[in-house]
Amino acid sequence: MITETEKSSPAPPPDAQQIRDILSQVIDPEVGRDIVSLGPVYRVEVAAGPQEKWTSERVLSMRWWTPTLVSFRTTRYRGFRFTPGHYTRLGLGAGAAGSGDCLWRPFSLASAAYDDFLEFIAVLVPGGAFSEPLRQLRVGDAIRVDKASYGFLTVDQLAPGKDLWLLASGTGLGPFLSILRDPSVWQNHERLIVVHSVRLSSELAWRDEIVAMPQGELFAEAKATLTYLPVVTREPGASKLAERIPLLLADGRLEAAAACALELATSRVLVCGNPEMSRELRQFLTSRGFATNRRGVPGQMAFEKYW
Ligand SMILES: Cc1cc2nc3c(=O)[nH]c(=O)nc-3n(C[C@H](O)[C@H](O)[C@H](O)COP(=O)(O)OP(=O)(O)OC[C@H]3O[C@@H](n4cnc5c(N)ncnc54)[C@H](O)[C@@H]3O)c2cc1C
Ligand SMILES: NC(=O)c1ccc[n+]([C@@H]2O[C@H](COP(=O)([O-])OP(=O)(O)OC[C@H]3O[C@@H](n4cnc5c(N)ncnc54)[C@H](OP(=O)(O)O)[C@@H]3O)[C@@H](O)[C@H]2O)c1
Repeated sequence: MITETEKSSPAPPPDAQQIRDILSQVIDPEVGRDIVSLGPVYRVEVAAGPQEKWTSERVLSMRWWTPTLVSFRTTRYRGFRFTPGHYTRLGLGAGAAGSGDCLWRPFSLASAAYDDFLEFIAVLVPGGAFSEPLRQLRVGDAIRVDKASYGFLTVDQLAPGKDLWLLASGTGLGPFLSILRDPSVWQNHERLIVVHSVRLSSELAWRDEIVAMPQGELFAEAKATLTYLPVVTREPGASKLAERIPLLLADGRLEAAAACALELATSRVLVCGNPEMSRELRQFLTSRGFATNRRGVPGQMAFEKYW
């Protein structure tokens, strides 16, 4: 099931009355706010105060892939900077719209570094403390975003290489979407191989967008070719590959499906999601001579564990 609510894109610039209407819908009068842009997404920025480590943003759109998997876009503080692959911290709960406390969790950025919004994907885990306010989240709601971004799951952690393998389980696809949205990644590699392992085919978020990327105007002239390999593990017949990624790699089926050999000299690997998968892949790749960045010396692999 896919339902989508978008605050629509190319619209004529709003007139003064429309602006007042928009503001009366999205601005709470008790908190000071600074409107920085009323472009197509009507970005409204909340001044949290320079001493705060976060800004309060607004949810612009939500896309429910399944009842427990959602991606959403928020407004973006004009000073927020990140490198594709980074994560930031999101704050939700009773205090998110005001000055009270709220609950914080790390989330990877799925949007491009140049987008004027931020995008995230989140799974709702049963009984999870953050999952509950996330379930209640609606377009127009406030959400806090840390002003800083973090992490080492970035292409600049890797020595230059020909083939970039992006191995994700579940929501671990998010940072790879941001990386794939970076045109320089398409210029600096010959092959981009995306492997997304999910339980059910409905969880193959952004599948159509990823497959269509090579035809997109930003990437049409790019050097790299894209191979997208979905792995659906709990729905027999839904994908050609149906085993967990470490097994598919160990028995050679992943390389065969990609028609690409995993070679220390030419291949670079980023892994994101399930920590057990991460551990197994690290062990396997280490046995093939792959290493992570050490003391500033770029390696051939990098990992992000989500719990
Ligand atoms: C660096 C980093 C980046 C992260 N980025 C994302 C992201 O982009 N999207 C996202 O949904 N989550 C992400 N997470 C996990 C996220 O921060 C929360 O853990 C998650 O939203 C659940 O929060 P919770 O309070 O409901 O449950 P928690 O108490 O945090 O987690 C409860 C249990 O749920 C399971 N779990 C937690 N997160 C996930 C997940 N993403 N996929 C599958 N099972 C999970 C684990 O078994 C965990 O022990 C990231 C975590 C880290 C460390
Ligand atoms: N996805 C759902 O249907 C669903 C529904 C409701 C709640 N939840 C809850 O949501 C949370 C996240 O579920 P999720 O499906 O997004 O994440 P997940 O459990 O990490 O599964 C995502 C993918 O990773 C694979 N995987 C799991 N462990 C692995 C390992 N050690 N090595 C390699 N691959 C591995 C899974 O394969 P396998 O199928 O072989 O495990 C699946 O293909 C869980 O707490 C779950 O209880 C999930």
